[in-house]
Amino acid sequence: MPLKSSRILLIVGGGIAAYKALDLVRRLRERGASVRAVLTQAGAQFVTPLSLAALSGQSVHQDLFSLTDEAEMGHIELSRDADLVIVAPATADLLAKAANGLANDLASTLLLATDKRVLAAPAMNLRMWLHPATRRNVATLRGDGMLFVGPDDGEMACGEYGPGRMAEPLTIVAAAEAALKTQTAIPLPLGVGVRPGATDLPLKGRRVVITSGPTHEPIDPVRYIANRSSGKQGHAIARAAAAAGAEVVLISGPVSVPDPVGVAVTHVETAREMLAAVEGALPADVYIGAAAVADWRVGSAQAQKLKKGASAPPALGLVENPDILATVAGRKSGRPGLVVGFAAETNDVIAHAQQKLARKGCDLIVANDVSPATGVMGGDRNTVHLVGPTGVESWPDLPKDEVAARLVAHLGKLLSGAP
Ligand code: C5P
Repeated sequence: MPLKSSRILLIVGGGIAAYKALDLVRRLRERGASVRAVLTQAGAQFVTPLSLAALSGQSVHQDLFSLTDEAEMGHIELSRDADLVIVAPATADLLAKAANGLANDLASTLLLATDKRVLAAPAMNLRMWLHPATRRNVATLRGDGMLFVGPDDGEMACGEYGPGRMAEPLTIVAAAEAALKTQTAIPLPLGVGVRPGATDLPLKGRRVVITSGPTHEPIDPVRYIANRSSGKQGHAIARAAAAAGAEVVLISGPVSVPDPVGVAVTHVETAREMLAAVEGALPADVYIGAAAVADWRVGSAQAQKLKKGASAPPALGLVENPDILATVAGRKSGRPGLVVGFAAETNDVIAHAQQKLARKGCDLIVANDVSPATGVMGGDRNTVHLVGPTGVESWPDLPKDEVAARLVAHLGKLLSGAP
């Protein structure tokens, strides 16, 4: 959605950078966005509700328990009646609350209740920004899908120099524009938040089996061969499929991301265990192989730990693992109606994906570039190409949740026979 016709909910926290939030309101409105402002108690020590109201042209919300505000618009509605939530300045306190799901004032309650993306522009003293607690909170929030702009390095109001200055209003505007381009409501798990009987669930009544994460192939009881897959993309697809009404079985290799809610999860380690779990979960309408399955395993993994000795280092003696995707796609009976594979490549992404589509006999390949410079492996964003028998559809750089939501919508269309 363009910034021009967007509705922004701006949460102004308590920090000296709050004065820049006033300019941010002007810049957003100049570009055609409408801005509704929420001012925290601490924020009101730095800017007045009157300035914010005058610049935004709308009344400013300050209290969680305000009869007047609730009569005008309840706080849940306020959190949803926007296309994007911006927190500027995002103080250490606001980030800590949001990272821990606290909801003891209007701003933190809105951050917990919203179904929209949140863009935070942190501003704080550099030691507060660099403190391990803030580092943890920011990492948690990034993992939860919060977007960040800044902070910048520079001279601080407190006289120190370093990271912690809030990004300039025009930089925040540019980040908001980028966030709005990929804006969709964040999905909820299966059946939650949907009135029984609702029909806008593209995978309702479908069974979907998804693999995610790496596999670990043992060398001996303490060592294994692995890869850098985080499971973020596969798990996001499982969440999105469940939110789209599917009955989802997720077969996950060893990952540190949490099990999605509303999804049946089987944990496995090796490719052979993954294949067995997939075969046990079939039949299904859709199979999505998002796991980075190890191509090889050690032919004879040792029962005892290998010892360093005077002799030459041990040869690993690799043998090929079963190809789960090709096995599922090649089933004579009980082949899922749609078999989707992933192609993680570091060069000639589309050409390799096209070859893979034919070689593995699947219906669609989601191809992505995983060269180290892209940060895809383990990161929160992905740039993918859908490679099918009739052509290629390339999507822009998107958060992995958004790739998942779009893929699920695409599969819903394919299953319904839509062009
Ligand atoms: O051949 P390559 O590993 O690049 O193919 C990637 C696709 O194949 C992914 O969908 C992955 O889940 C699947 N795959 C598999 N079993 C293997 C290797 C890859 O299912 N042994």
